Amino acid sequence: MTSVAEASPSGSGTTGARAFVIERQGELAILWFDLPGEKVNKFSTAVLHELSAILDHFASSSDVKKIIIASRKPGIYIAGADVTEFTTVSGAEQVKAYVTLGQQVFTKLAKLPQTTVAAIDGACLGGGCEMAISCDWRVMADTPRSQIGLPEVKLGIFPAWGGTSKLPRLIGLPAALDIILNGKAFDAKRAKRAGLVDEIVEPGILIDIAKQFAERGKRRGGGRTKFLVEGNPVTRGIIFNKARKAVLAQTKGNYPAPLKAIEVMEYAMSAGVERGMQREVEEASALVNNEVAQNLVRLFFLMEESKKDPIAAKPRDVSTVGVLGAGVMGGGIAQLVVDKTDSDVRMRDIAMKAIGGGMKAAARIWKRKVDRRRMTPGEMQRKLARITGTTDWSGFQRSDIVVEAVVESLPIKRQVLSEFEAIEKPNAIFATNTSTIPITKIAAEAKHPENVVGMHFFNPVDRMPLVEVIRGEKTSDVAMVTTAALARKMGKTVVYCNDGPGFVVNRILGPYMNESGFLLEEGNTIESLDNAMVEFGMPMGPMALLDEVGIDVAAKVAGILTEAFGARMEKSTVVEKLYADGRHGKKNEKGLYLYKDGKRLGPDPSVYKVLGISNPHPADAKDVVERMVLSMINEAVLILDEKIVASAGELDLAMIMGTGFPPFRGGLLRYADALGGPYILGRLDELSSRVGPRFRPNEPLKRLASRDGKFYQTYVRS
Ligand code: NAI
Repeated sequence: MTSVAEASPSGSGTTGARAFVIERQGELAILWFDLPGEKVNKFSTAVLHELSAILDHFASSSDVKKIIIASRKPGIYIAGADVTEFTTVSGAEQVKAYVTLGQQVFTKLAKLPQTTVAAIDGACLGGGCEMAISCDWRVMADTPRSQIGLPEVKLGIFPAWGGTSKLPRLIGLPAALDIILNGKAFDAKRAKRAGLVDEIVEPGILIDIAKQFAERGKRRGGGRTKFLVEGNPVTRGIIFNKARKAVLAQTKGNYPAPLKAIEVMEYAMSAGVERGMQREVEEASALVNNEVAQNLVRLFFLMEESKKDPIAAKPRDVSTVGVLGAGVMGGGIAQLVVDKTDSDVRMRDIAMKAIGGGMKAAARIWKRKVDRRRMTPGEMQRKLARITGTTDWSGFQRSDIVVEAVVESLPIKRQVLSEFEAIEKPNAIFATNTSTIPITKIAAEAKHPENVVGMHFFNPVDRMPLVEVIRGEKTSDVAMVTTAALARKMGKTVVYCNDGPGFVVNRILGPYMNESGFLLEEGNTIESLDNAMVEFGMPMGPMALLDEVGIDVAAKVAGILTEAFGARMEKSTVVEKLYADGRHGKKNEKGLYLYKDGKRLGPDPSVYKVLGISNPHPADAKDVVERMVLSMINEAVLILDEKIVASAGELDLAMIMGTGFPPFRGGLLRYADALGGPYILGRLDELSSRVGPRFRPNEPLKRLASRDGKFYQTYVRS
């Protein structure tokens, strides 16, 4: 007997359509979560009230004995709390009430007399995970979309609907710390191994297996901590201290949330879940209004916004992707296409040896996954077999899009484009991964310039989350959206750019890297420059970055930017001199740092001699940060003024995703807005007369400062 009823018994207090539907099958009730008008299920105050009323109804119902909670959204179980609402609650009391409501509802769920099962298919994150761990049992569909975890620290808070207090008791302290402090989500297999879910199954039988679990009755006992750590405060103390040290080493103390999470977990482990949850309310509500959390939430919205395409064209279907050039970038791109999409890859290079290199690079990335048991050797072989290589153009008739990653040379790129056009595959898109050459120049002699577009990845391709998609003068909307759609399928954040040398990220990095060169020439030590920027929050300092990118590559980029922008991109002599000395950086283990077996050691003292520096001394960190950051801001304003990128938010997104500009600062221009236009102008004027004319403030910046304007209000997408 099956009956489906609109859920939400009277008195739910919700408005509009309902989020839950109850399906009755005898003693069993399946509670289907299907938030109307949304792609994903999430918890808002209204949804929590609705769920609360349903749970009250179950609590007093004698004919329902078993409850399964499932989702009707494809690929999503529950995405978590509604972050939009989360930003509208302000003031400590309001936040406390919001946090307490979630806790009360999940406690109600945990205390139901019925056996409860979470039947998870798709992402089960944040509040979704906290709800699931309040059920007796958890069964998860084993699909690539399924994941379970607590990403709250990425929003500057920690799980406060019971997750921080309960998770260690369920899966043990080390695994809980890993999830909570790193904002991690586990895939189905890993979740099963950790004990976070009880069973993983084929998606088609998820509800059937959930029913079997419901037959088992309420869960007795459960957690792992009893045996591992709960009874041993000494071991616990050691684990927490280690975790605290690791967080500080990683965040330099710039992110308060993980440290608070440790504090709450430690307290909850000794004082019990109930008191732990009270502490969650206190500490989390203090964090929500903190500047770091606000910046991280803004970043979350920038990322959400970037998933919606502002161009109203339909992307073309892509079944086969061509990759031209099997070098560092080509190999990485081929690997990621196969890893993340259903498309096969045809890869072309001029030498068979290079193709072998590209294949090896792809295999290395998958091998790391196999070693970490994230992939089976069989899966790796099947993926590898989907990349085929050639030195001619055979097989390219099938490519709907080719990503060009041959050497950074305009004549070679044009040549490759003309050979590709000779295949005469109508409408095939030529997406160039050039890092600096304007797309319009590459397309200048093309038969179909409308199909030529920029698709700028960052190195290493599998780890750097940004792709700049660049519109040349004649690029069509379809080419733009098809390229963006492929990049998004590859798991990347897309920022649309208009054409111009260096586009957004490399153009801003130009003055930044140059300035680090000037600072080095002035006799500041390599490590003091790097330390200053790492303390500011950059993932690595400029000297280490130069080695990482390659001094040879930097020499080329610097040349192109100087040619394009003249005095403003005035070069230090550092790159030139080091390049002439045969230093290419990490790749030949000869750069600003010393290397052994690919590992970076200390700074190389012989660099000072090459540069003619006799008396290196530590830098003044404050001065370094100011010069480095203001040089970027000054260039960023021009980029906005020239409409290379549509908004301050998109520029910040590009900088955070492309360079690791510290997310806790909200982005380069969010940081600039916090400093204020008049202050920036004053400092640039002073630096311009004391250090050099390259700091001369540009006109749009002067205009903005004269009316004390904000970047975020001035530069918005129209
Ligand atoms: P790479 O030197 O590692 O690879 C280039 C490959 O292209 C070589 O295997 C070479 O044999 C091949 N090649 C040369 N002429 C060719 C032709 N006519 N047809 C097919 N293949 C040809 O260079 P890398 O670093 O992979 O760079 C490739 C492109 O990606 C460049 O445009 C570069 O500016 C851009 N890029 C590089 C980044 C980096 O950090 N390495 C980052 C972002 C973009």
